[in-house]
Amino acid sequence: MSTEREVFIEVRDLHQRFGRHEVLRGVNLEVYRGETLCLLGGSGGGKSVLIKHLCGLMRPWKGSVLVEGEDITNLPERALGPVRRKVSMMFQGGALFDSLTVGQNIAFPLREAGLRDQKEIDLRVRQALEIVRMPGQERKMPADLSGGMRKRVALARAVVEMPACVLYDEPHAGLDPVTSDSIDHLIKDLEVDHNITNIVITHELRSVFRIADRVAFMKEGVIYWKGTADELKSTKDPELASFVEGRAETRDRWDQAAPCVDTDG
Ligand SMILES: Nc1ncnc2c1ncn2[C@@H]1O[C@H](COP(=O)(O)OP(=O)(O)O)[C@@H](O)[C@H]1O
Ligand SMILES: [Mg+2]
Repeated sequence: MSTEREVFIEVRDLHQRFGRHEVLRGVNLEVYRGETLCLLGGSGGGKSVLIKHLCGLMRPWKGSVLVEGEDITNLPERALGPVRRKVSMMFQGGALFDSLTVGQNIAFPLREAGLRDQKEIDLRVRQALEIVRMPGQERKMPADLSGGMRKRVALARAVVEMPACVLYDEPHAGLDPVTSDSIDHLIKDLEVDHNITNIVITHELRSVFRIADRVAFMKEGVIYWKGTADELKSTKDPELASFVEGRAETRDRWDQAAPCVDTDG
C-alpha cells in the first residue's frame, strides 16, 4: 500500500432503496489509491449494491460518490464511460459471453469504447492475458475452461482498459482453495505491479488476511466497522467476532494464512 494515503474514492452519506427497502442507509467510506480493501458483511447486506455505485452502474437516492475528487453521482450517462474505464468491475460469477472466444470476451470493452484498430485490440488482449497468466489462450471458448480460468478471463476483461481501480464481486465464490490462492496472487500483483486500487467483496477470511490492507464490514446498510486486517484478527467486537467465528471452515485457516504463493500460474 502506498504511504501517502491519497484518497481515490470517497463515499459520502450514500443512501439507496428499492421501494420501501432501504439497502444503503448512509455509507461513508474512503478508499486510498493503491490499497486493497476487502468488503465483508452478511448476505443481502448491500455489498454488491454499494460497489455498483462506485463505477456509476447505480445512482444513489441520496449522498455522493467522488472518484479522484470528481462527484460522479449526477453525471450524464455519456460521461460515465470514462468513469467505468477508470473504475472497472469484475462481476459476480464472471459473466462471460459463452458464444465468444476468450479473446473476443476480453476485447469486448475495447470495442464498446469505440476502438477499431484490430492490431491495437490484439495487443491489448495479449497483454491482459499475460497479466492473468494465460498467455496465448485467445482462441479458447469459455466452455472449455475451468472455473478458475473463467475467473481469470473475467479479470483480464476487467483490466484490459488499464483501470486505476478494480471492483471484485465475490471473486472467490465457487473456487477451491488452491484456485482462490491464485486469484489472490493476481489481485495482489495488480496492486503491487500496476498500483491498482482493489476493492474486493469476499466471504473468504483466508483471502482477507492474505490480500487486505484494510477491511470494511457492512451491516444494516452502513459501514459498521473498518480497520486493518490485523485489527480484524484481534477484534473484541462481539458482532464482528461472531461473524468471523461463525465460519468454522475459514476460522480453522486463520492462523495458517501464508504469504501469497503463486500456485498455478
Ligand atoms: N436492482 C434491485 N432491485 C431491487 N432490489 C435489489 C436490487 N439490487 C439489490 N436489491 C436488494 O438489495 C439488497 C442487497 O443486495 P446486495 O447488494 O446484492 O447484497 P450483498 O451484500 O449480498 O451483495 C437485497 O435485499 C437485494 O434483494
Ligand atoms: Mg453480492
